[in-house]
Amino acid sequence: PVLYVLNGPNLNLLGVREPEVYGRETLADVQARCERAAGDATVVFRQTNHEGELIDQVQEARDKADALVINPAGYGHTSVALLDALKTLTIPIVECHLSNPAARERFRHRSYVSAVAAGVVSGFGPVSYELAVQAALGLAQERSR
Ligand code: DQA
Repeated sequence: PVLYVLNGPNLNLLGVREPEVYGRETLADVQARCERAAGDATVVFRQTNHEGELIDQVQEARDKADALVINPAGYGHTSVALLDALKTLTIPIVECHLSNPAARERFRHRSYVSAVAAGVVSGFGPVSYELAVQAALGLAQERSR
């Protein structure tokens, strides 16, 4: 199976960006965790600061991926266009956050992505990604049976 792991804006700065919120691991560390958690599955791991590019990557996942993990970062709270792109997918989608947005500012409580996600993993730092990868691959496997 092929798993896409997509990361939205500012996640390239992981490790230096608000470490008290997001921790000290870098995005490369997170990628390594995802690859380990995915076992034999192929992980396509991407990050972009641009909304349109994130949407292009979601569209690419339409015909290339068996499951999708997405940390939409700030765009999760704002982007109807990202929601619309995700709606075109038929593969399982798992939303993932390092922090727990529900325990933070009000504007982080709404996620457009949650409406189309099979589930959400948040609040466990980089471990959120490992759990999300396992969940997404589990859902993909169920579907292929
Ligand atoms: C985040 C949470 C979002 O609210 C925030 O905009 C981010 C990161 C997280 O992983 O905790 O950029 O998605």
